[in-house]
Amino acid sequence: MESMNSDIIRFTIEDRNGEQQPVEVPDEISLSLMEVLKASGYNILATCGGMALCATCHVQVLEGLDALDPAGDEEMDMLDTLHDAGYDSRLACQIRIHENLNGAIFKIRGDEQ
Ligand code: FES
Repeated sequence: MESMNSDIIRFTIEDRNGEQQPVEVPDEISLSLMEVLKASGYNILATCGGMALCATCHVQVLEGLDALDPAGDEEMDMLDTLHDAGYDSRLACQIRIHENLNGAIFKIRGDEQ
């Protein structure tokens, strides 16, 4: 079987200190943004393991919000419980790595350890 062409998806992460770093991931990986953030060494608790139940993977989408798939009901319900969530808040565990993340900027907002 021929190997599939893989493209690189590039987006930017702003950490809790306001520092921005580019992140590049191949588009064929089947991971959530939360998993990529953890694998990249960011301090994300993700206590619920990606079930949209803990909100410790809260990110604010500074760029590229409109390109993302809309939040589902579970994600919306959990975001509603956060006092510091805004219209541009998302749960990183509910965002799949996909080419629609190209050029996006995500600011990490969830609680630290
Ligand atoms: S990891 Fe718990 S809500 Fe995303």
